[in-house]
Amino acid sequence: MTDDDKVPAAELYTEAFAADPYPTFARLRTERPVCPVGSPRFDSWLITGFDDARAALTDPRLSKDLYGPDQHYLRIFGPNSEGLNRNMLNSDPPEHTRLRRVVSQAFAPRRIEALRPRVAVIVDQLIDKIIPQGESDLMHDFAIPLPMTVICELLGVPPADHGRVLDWTQVIRTSGSTSRPPAEERAAVQEAQLRLHHYLADLVRAKRDDPADDIIGALVRAVDQDRTLSEAELVTTTFLLLFAGHQTTADFLGNAVLALLTHPEQLELLRATPRLLPAAIEELLRFDGPLPVASPRIATEDIDYQGVRIPRGSIVGVAINAANHDPGHFADPDRLDVRRVRGPHLGFGHGVHYCLGVSLARMEAELALSALLRRLPGLRLGVPLAEVRRLPAASPFRGLLELPVTFTV
Ligand code: HEM
Repeated sequence: MTDDDKVPAAELYTEAFAADPYPTFARLRTERPVCPVGSPRFDSWLITGFDDARAALTDPRLSKDLYGPDQHYLRIFGPNSEGLNRNMLNSDPPEHTRLRRVVSQAFAPRRIEALRPRVAVIVDQLIDKIIPQGESDLMHDFAIPLPMTVICELLGVPPADHGRVLDWTQVIRTSGSTSRPPAEERAAVQEAQLRLHHYLADLVRAKRDDPADDIIGALVRAVDQDRTLSEAELVTTTFLLLFAGHQTTADFLGNAVLALLTHPEQLELLRATPRLLPAAIEELLRFDGPLPVASPRIATEDIDYQGVRIPRGSIVGVAINAANHDPGHFADPDRLDVRRVRGPHLGFGHGVHYCLGVSLARMEAELALSALLRRLPGLRLGVPLAEVRRLPAASPFRGLLELPVTFTV
């Protein structure tokens, strides 16, 4: 790839792109559906059409094994990332199959359904605290703490520790959005990752001495009794569940509420017809999902997509949010339509890495959105849309830093 071929980082990672990436995604999908892009983090190739994206997510020539002999992780996460990131998401079968099997039972639809009453209580407790305020930053008061509390309880993180775990994960999530110099910010992220790593390793040791009926307890048994997991994999799996289990859901809830507040007729439709909610959640995820580009894949050989050659060793990004706005698959794709007949969007991925937490994410979203609509009448944005602060365009996640709202009490 030469610098002339590349879509420059300066064109993609702008404030305008962070506010609305869909015109740029549409242009790329039409003009250069498979193209090299520069980025402040690492250069990669971007795939933006729906059919190509779906094919790429199951293409065995696109590997997720970042910690194999070629050490691709060095380009993506940098050194010292192994202790947290060498997990199922960054591995291929058969390793992936082994790592996923150990926890898949805990996220099976029936097990998740049994959590519904408890999640409803957490939702209500958060809204109880918001109501007397008359206004709220819904990211801070609701969208972040809800999935964080749920995943911490599932894993078995003691309630007294939720606060500091939240602080560390927020440093990682919001990196690039503070006014600190980049070197200082990188150091803060590394520090937060290190602290989280030590904390999780200590927690695992504590669960070994005092066995518990939670996911970490089950993982400890998988290490000690079945030897299906190494001690290091126990920690990386816990980190993945903790991070994947709240970050995407929090950003999804923020994006979903913002989309409804900026499409009041859709909000009213949903208020008037609550049975539309499950389909509306899929539409909101298609419309503005929290993971614009799937996690990085590596081309294990030269690969042709759309007659364009992606050279061996390239990092490949599958642009989920671009694919989900492909007019070849979704009529009038930039229109939010909660009545849209549910089409197979890629918001939860596709193939062996398809989201493990899909049932939990859907249940949390259903309880969260129905409670917000029911209990906060007159919900509206507290600032003009242009003033809503977002994660930076270069963040791997699409989400809001704050979501100020008002409502009638
Ligand atoms: C709305 C919320 C969520 C969205 C949009 C979402 C989206 C995704 C996507 C797109 C992937 C595939 C990534 C790729 O192929 O690169 C994925 C994987 C994953 N998700 Fe989710 N997710 C959500 C919530 C959750 C929750 C609540 C959990 C709970 C633990 C979770 C756990 C995981 C895990 C462990 C993986 C890796 C699976 C594997 O590698 O086999 N996610 N998610």
